[in-house]
Amino acid sequence: MQSIKDQLNLEQLPKHVAIIMDGNGRWAKSRGEARTFGHRNAIKAVRDVVNACNEIHIPFLTLYTFSSENWKRPDDEVSTLMSLISETLLLEAEEIFSKGLRMHVIGDIDKLPELVRTQMLHLVDITKDNTRGNLILALSYGSQNEILNAVKQISTKVKNGELTENEITEKVFEEHLYTKEFPPVDLLIRTSGEVRISNFLLWQIAYAELQFLDILWPDFGREDLFRCIYNFQNKERRFGKTSEQLNENL
Ligand code: IPE
Ligand code: IPE
Ligand code: MG
Repeated sequence: MQSIKDQLNLEQLPKHVAIIMDGNGRWAKSRGEARTFGHRNAIKAVRDVVNACNEIHIPFLTLYTFSSENWKRPDDEVSTLMSLISETLLLEAEEIFSKGLRMHVIGDIDKLPELVRTQMLHLVDITKDNTRGNLILALSYGSQNEILNAVKQISTKVKNGELTENEITEKVFEEHLYTKEFPPVDLLIRTSGEVRISNFLLWQIAYAELQFLDILWPDFGREDLFRCIYNFQNKERRFGKTSEQLNENL
């Protein structure tokens, strides 16, 4: 039987895949373990999707790693998560670099512990000339706050006469988001069975295909990612047009 990877059309891959990596706590609980056990077991799934995207050459992969709302979790869970992020960055840095991946971070990184922020920015810096693909971590990220910041920056520019009201186009607006260098999201995946966005990339997913899976994040792997892409390729993305119009242009 043909593998799911062999069934993909490599000419029509999504440019930007974004993933809400959810379900670590439930995965641990179902095994009678503490939530942090789930977070530890999440790293393999992260490695798998990074490798899978690299294998078929997805140019942009954004991983929702820690939301602005996740700061409200119990202190010990937050500090375990921060330590795990720090450990993982340290362990994986060489691998990321040697794969030719360019690392980015989006979010309110000033809130991160000093060590995590420094490690993150170091990785962003040392990989800045890599061109094989882009790995974007959303850390301390909240989309409403990102949009609000863009509005504030733009209103300051209008006040200072750097921009007129008519010049505020969608493109100009996007230039004030963390994601200004990235294309819009084509495919958004959320694991764990929850069907919600949880303040992730609200502007950037305007026309994304959304896939919600009943798999808990630590169980997610390479084949699951390829299946999501396969399903994505079997959707007709009409962007407001009719099916007939799209077929005429073939
Ligand atoms: C996702 O798993 C990891 C983070 C949000 C950091 P959860 O920790 O949310 O796991 P569930 O949703 O409680 O199962
Ligand atoms: C979203 O998951 C954030 C990340 C995956 C990092 P949550 O588990 O925090 O989302 P809610 O709060 O259940 O919506
Ligand atoms: Mg969750």
